[in-house]
Amino acid sequence: MPFTKHEIELLNNLLPNEVEASRARAAYGKTASYIPELAKAPQDALGIHMIDVDGTTVSGGDCGLSFTMQSISKVFTLILALMDNGEQAVFEKVGMEPTGDNFNSMLKLELVRPGIPFNPLINAGAIAISSLIHGNNPAEKNARVLSFFQALAGNDTLAYDMDVYRSESDTANLNRSMGYLLKDNGVLEGNVEDVLDVYFHHCSISVTCGDLARMALVLANNGTDPLTGTALIPRRYVQIAKTFMVTCGMYNASGEFAIQVGLPAKSGVSGGILTMVPGRAGIGVVGPALNAKGNSISGVHLLESLSRELDWSLF
Ligand code: DON
Repeated sequence: MPFTKHEIELLNNLLPNEVEASRARAAYGKTASYIPELAKAPQDALGIHMIDVDGTTVSGGDCGLSFTMQSISKVFTLILALMDNGEQAVFEKVGMEPTGDNFNSMLKLELVRPGIPFNPLINAGAIAISSLIHGNNPAEKNARVLSFFQALAGNDTLAYDMDVYRSESDTANLNRSMGYLLKDNGVLEGNVEDVLDVYFHHCSISVTCGDLARMALVLANNGTDPLTGTALIPRRYVQIAKTFMVTCGMYNASGEFAIQVGLPAKSGVSGGILTMVPGRAGIGVVGPALNAKGNSISGVHLLESLSRELDWSLF
């Protein structure tokens, strides 16, 4: 069901004040700096774009800002790996459980046998998923990932931000060590550096809130783009992706987000959040200042306010 006329009016009335109130939270957060290029993002930017199943859009704040998808991309590489390999092969390599640890933790890879990542949305899990994407070499895999993302966003100009890609690849000591540990645990197929190349590339795909909203809309509509009628993802894989978004999408703040917002969501360290009102609308948010768990501090605040005002929680 699309947003009602009343809801659209309410959103348009609320947004200017809610965006400014949430933007003020940025003072208590910090842009990511462990990928040096991300530290250049505007600290107190905040933008949101929503698009409902009829194509009606509502947006506010700095919604024209470009940023890289970072961990948000993990939802869609998971889906591509499922489409390439099927459910059984994918879940031999990654689990289905939240960790309660930080997104870049490798603690449980050693502690908990058989040493497969707990889920596909932590870094270790997404690196394992990158090794499952079909293609003869990293270039072919990267091209397949990009064209899948372009189809989902309905935007064939989506591209890799090579400055962010190089910045991450040059400094990724932790992810690299995770890749080699996964290889030793028998989780990764092929050359570790090739797998990491695919992972760093998909994290560095540049988008706006509008692109995220459009990609989320496909998930909200069970895999079919409601604006073109094109079936892009089998419904079962959307169901798996949305479930992971609820249980692990906001990392070790997923429980709190489920209580305060109550929607499937995925964050990234560039400050992006992709979320949706299932059956109704896709939502993209950006606010580069992060909280201690690595989620956009202003973005989470804005979604909490809107979810309360519009009664969006699924629970
Ligand atoms: O691997 C990394 O650390 C980044 N490319 C992505 C991490 C990320 O976005 C975690 N998000 N909260």
